[in-house]
Amino acid sequence: MSRIKNLSDIFKGFSKLNLNQRIQKIFEAGSINEDDLKFLKSGGLKDTQLGEKFIENTIGYFQMPMGVATQFCIDGKELFIPMAVEETSIIAAASKTAKWIKETGTITTEVMGTDIIGQIQIGKVRHFSNLKNVIQKNKNFLINLANTEVVPNLVQRGGGVRDIQLRELKRDDGQDMAVIHILMNPCDAMGANLINQVCEFLKSPIQELSSETVTMCILSNLADSKITRAVVEMTVDDELGIKIQEASLFAELDSYRAATNNKGVLNGIDPILIATGNDWRAVEAGIHAYAARSGHYTSITKWRFDKDTGGLRGVFEAPLIVGTVGGVTNLHPMAKMSLRMLGVQSSNELSRIAAAVGLVQNLGALRALTTVGIIEGHMKLHIKNLSLGVGATETEIPLLETKLEEILTLTKRITLSHAMEVLKEIRTSQRM
Ligand code: MEV
Repeated sequence: MSRIKNLSDIFKGFSKLNLNQRIQKIFEAGSINEDDLKFLKSGGLKDTQLGEKFIENTIGYFQMPMGVATQFCIDGKELFIPMAVEETSIIAAASKTAKWIKETGTITTEVMGTDIIGQIQIGKVRHFSNLKNVIQKNKNFLINLANTEVVPNLVQRGGGVRDIQLRELKRDDGQDMAVIHILMNPCDAMGANLINQVCEFLKSPIQELSSETVTMCILSNLADSKITRAVVEMTVDDELGIKIQEASLFAELDSYRAATNNKGVLNGIDPILIATGNDWRAVEAGIHAYAARSGHYTSITKWRFDKDTGGLRGVFEAPLIVGTVGGVTNLHPMAKMSLRMLGVQSSNELSRIAAAVGLVQNLGALRALTTVGIIEGHMKLHIKNLSLGVGATETEIPLLETKLEEILTLTKRITLSHAMEVLKEIRTSQRM
């Protein structure tokens, strides 16, 4: 599989191709291999064998559309972005915004920190100061024990448990709670199972050494010790730059707006996580918790415009813990193919791509919201869903879509009732 570096020609007119032509193009770009090509052309997963392995009581598959966003150039590398998503317009908006950025700017990314966090709770700590001494004195012993007994393979790959920290929490009933944080570098795994095993393993030695009683052990999805950052830098005109900065300030100041802003960011992130077999609920939880870390739920993106230079700068910063080994990532053929398509060598690289697409998706939404409004792009594509939803036939769909687009242009509104009415009119006029 030899990968074409410059995808600009392949991206051109991509959305106008039919499904088989699109698959063929991705193959020609060297982003998927021959087996992937055959698998996609045959329509993907059919038997339920794989599903039976993942969950209990399998009755089939819920088929989600899988597409690719084009035009992305992240850290100087052009690539197709696999996205499994049902929401109309997400892929189109991502591709359009990525193309816009490419014209005058760049997308750069980085990951800061290496560790995920596991928590060991001592619900009612008897002697916090004694526990503190015990943890301090035995920190290295406990780290080495976990690394040798539970995660020796991780240590061989350069990861493993790296630190143990203690926190004291005040309870409403006047007693104290102690929480022990285990910090572990999971390398290219998402690490949930590994860190949970480490925490449960450490429960006994900690109880024995401290004479305290551990209540429970579990990872924390708020992995603020490993933060992914994506930055967009580009040139825009003054009017738009100021509008985007205003939209950003709105989300930074107001939690009601921040929730929707962050949902828009996750519109870009979740589909990649699903396509690569990652746990998107864990990432969502981490991102929202990080957005609320100051006690005020705020935006996870920030846009600033410099009038002197015409420079618009956007930053996404949050924990975005993913894996490229282990779990579904290496079992589901679509996930394996998506990872191949991205050509990622590490979990950090996948995390950086997801952050970049989230930030780009956010910019696309802010541009639409502060200019034409969300209805235009969103609803034009939604018309397709409405047409299918009211049961229009293949022959009725083109006419119905044209009429609905006319109504949308005139009234800026389009609903299922419009679609039902227009379809009724089409059918009546055809009978006459
Ligand atoms: C819709 O799925 C996402 C948006 O609401 C995001 C936003 O408001 O920033 C358009």
